[in-house]
Amino acid sequence: MATSSAVAVRRPQSRFKYVIFSILGLMFLFVLWNNERFIFDHSHPDWTYYFPVRYMLIPHGLGGLAALLIGPLQLSSRFRTKHVRIHRILGGFYIGGITLAATMGSYVATVHSSVPLRIFTYVTAITWLLCAWTALASVLKGNYQQHRQWMIRSYAVTTLFVTARVAFALPIIKRLGPSASAEILWTILVLTLIFTEFGLAWSSIFGRRRLPARTATAG
Ligand code: HEM
Repeated sequence: MATSSAVAVRRPQSRFKYVIFSILGLMFLFVLWNNERFIFDHSHPDWTYYFPVRYMLIPHGLGGLAALLIGPLQLSSRFRTKHVRIHRILGGFYIGGITLAATMGSYVATVHSSVPLRIFTYVTAITWLLCAWTALASVLKGNYQQHRQWMIRSYAVTTLFVTARVAFALPIIKRLGPSASAEILWTILVLTLIFTEFGLAWSSIFGRRRLPARTATAG
């Protein structure tokens, strides 16, 4: 009985996960086409803009890309239980990718970005590193519940690469102009973190309440 009810509770969650990852995948393809074409099309004005920091952007982009692609596999319960060893190896690449992307991103911001974007990058990088390394520390201590939660938080920060670029492509945001960029980025960061906490707390707030055994058998 306990097993079948556990499966029944997990199913909608896994479906929700697939929906989220599918939406993220589509957004990622849009970002590749809309924002990153300059990598191959050197006549694009963004190529000139990023040219001075192109070598720093390579480790930054590759580290971030590794985290973005590995994250969904790490968060898949089915993959995790079937391939424990691969989960551990990919976990190393995930933490390494974030560490590389966060440090190189901060360096690029220091030498190439405006002060408001620089401050945003430092705070985001610290949050990103803190979540990823806390996830690692938790699993090393054997605390799997905390490990899962901090992995989810770190992946939420990872998705900013996609969500921020999609947001900036929306006409309503575009109309605000480049002077509003920092405010928009801060808003996206705060909303991302709040919605993540809300998602993590969801089942304990709105899930089916487990009655204590004494009460459940009474009457
Ligand atoms: C999935 C993770 C990420 C990937 C794949 C990634 C990749 C890239 C790429 C390809 C660029 C240059 C082109 C562009 O701006 O579109 C870039 C720029 C940059 N990224 Fe990331 N990034 C990621 C996450 C982050 C995060 C979380 C931060 C903040 C800590 C960050 C900080 C920056 C900065 C400061 C720039 C330079 C912006 C400028 O000077 O205008 N990135 N990133």
